[in-house]
Amino acid sequence: MQLCKKYRDFTRMNIYQIYPRSFMDSNGDGIGDLQGIISKLDYLQELGINAIWMCPCFKSPNADNGYDVADYCDIMDEFGTMADMDELIAEMHSRGMKLILDLVPNHTSNEHKWFRESRKGKDNPYSDFYYWYDEKPNDWKASFGGSAWEYDELRGQYYLHMFAVGQPDLNWDNPEVVKAMQGVIDFWVEKGIDGFRIDVIDLISKDIANGVKGLGPRLHEYIHDMFGRDNTAHLFTVGESVVKDIEEMKRHCGEDRGEVSTLFQFDHLECGRADKFTPKKDSLRTFRDTLVYWQQQTDENGLLYSLFTDNHDQPAFISRAGNDRELRYETATDIAAMIYLLKGVPFIYQGQEIGMPAAHYDNIDCFDDVECLGAYREMITEKGLSEAEALEKVNFGSRDNARHPMAWDGSAKCGFTTSEPWLIEHSRAAEVNVASDLAAERSVYRFYQQLLKLRGENDAFTDGRFELISKPEDDHFIYTRTQDGEKWAVICNFEKDQQIKLPFDCEEPALANLGRKTADGAYAAYECAAAKVLQ
Ligand code: GLC
Ligand code: CA
Repeated sequence: MQLCKKYRDFTRMNIYQIYPRSFMDSNGDGIGDLQGIISKLDYLQELGINAIWMCPCFKSPNADNGYDVADYCDIMDEFGTMADMDELIAEMHSRGMKLILDLVPNHTSNEHKWFRESRKGKDNPYSDFYYWYDEKPNDWKASFGGSAWEYDELRGQYYLHMFAVGQPDLNWDNPEVVKAMQGVIDFWVEKGIDGFRIDVIDLISKDIANGVKGLGPRLHEYIHDMFGRDNTAHLFTVGESVVKDIEEMKRHCGEDRGEVSTLFQFDHLECGRADKFTPKKDSLRTFRDTLVYWQQQTDENGLLYSLFTDNHDQPAFISRAGNDRELRYETATDIAAMIYLLKGVPFIYQGQEIGMPAAHYDNIDCFDDVECLGAYREMITEKGLSEAEALEKVNFGSRDNARHPMAWDGSAKCGFTTSEPWLIEHSRAAEVNVASDLAAERSVYRFYQQLLKLRGENDAFTDGRFELISKPEDDHFIYTRTQDGEKWAVICNFEKDQQIKLPFDCEEPALANLGRKTADGAYAAYECAAAKVLQ
């Protein structure tokens, strides 16, 4: 099914996700900032990026690096000022780039005015902005360890926090909360931003009495309250969610719903791991098959799909999906071709464009993330792991893996800052960095550049019908994209060298990570090509 016009336009966005804290430090305090981002807009534009999703940049005490917001309508001190933000918006718009902000509607910081007031007592205007109970109503656990209920001395009651203690959950059943969040959205819409990524959107409606914490009974009403209004209809919105079936996805992203444009769907990322902190030997077949399922389902239903493998919560996918040592370039480019020539909106996480792998450290002091430190403690105290075993697990699964300062060059501070970075440099920054990649004969950056160009120049990749060519038992991912009689084949080999015979003839590949001249024949490990089908 064709996507609606609005969604078709969205598939022309090549979105780059920035973790502002770690992208570029402009003033030498070791923390990335808005001016740093502005200084790299040309770099991104060269790559073919025309939209940026920026992780939270709002005032925050940083219990969870900005996902604990103390003021949604002000900028985090370390990142700059509102004037810097206005400048960023203007600089981006003058380049034809869109800005997507990260909205965190499920919880605030415990330093947000709403919470400071709410703590004061039951007759306060903000009293019911959060969930308060005399006794813990259930035994929910917080995602970052420990109970989800915290006793507050001042109020003399327990409040709910699904994440860190400093991230109290907002009570969306209170209409005042809905209004307040609409006010936040309107503030940014008036500033001219182009969309939102919505943090843990599935959590905003809960039914505490019945133990429902995700996808609660009033979820769609609340999403509609946020984005089903006239002044929000043009926005691109992507919700972070655990939705696992197509019917539920339709209720979120159907074009007539007035909810969100698309969702981040995480099933395909389970390839290569048994759980967050435990690796698993896997074949890329599981990655392919999951992607294919969602590709077909969203295609059939005219839904917009999000194409991504990495973000600020995920260790580099190439490290668990392939060979991030000898075949790092091949793996990085092959995975890029597999995912970004599908139908949907591409999201590229900072560092992916140079094939940045996961990091590794031999000391827990090198880690900062609230989630992995909580998990580390629980592994030792509750699960009986040794410190060495727990450290290995944290190395595999920590979100810090994706949060190290962007490696711009091979110098001591990797071109990110002139002082001590807030988080230790990536353990492989001296080897893998922007300067070394650009100087290399085989550059991941240049491959991404060609890929995005190809995608942008051929409607088949944005609008075209998806068809799977690989059979379940094949160790490759081959598919076609067809639009207006034009057909393209994407051929991506997995880890084994093999002969590939195609059921059609093709032109010379327009994109090929190892420079091959024919679409079929002998493929090396992680070799890929995209070629127009002769018909
Ligand atoms: C989302 C964010 C993550 C954050 C959490 C709580 O999962 O991506 O970084 O810690 O929500 O806001
Ligand atoms: Ca700075």
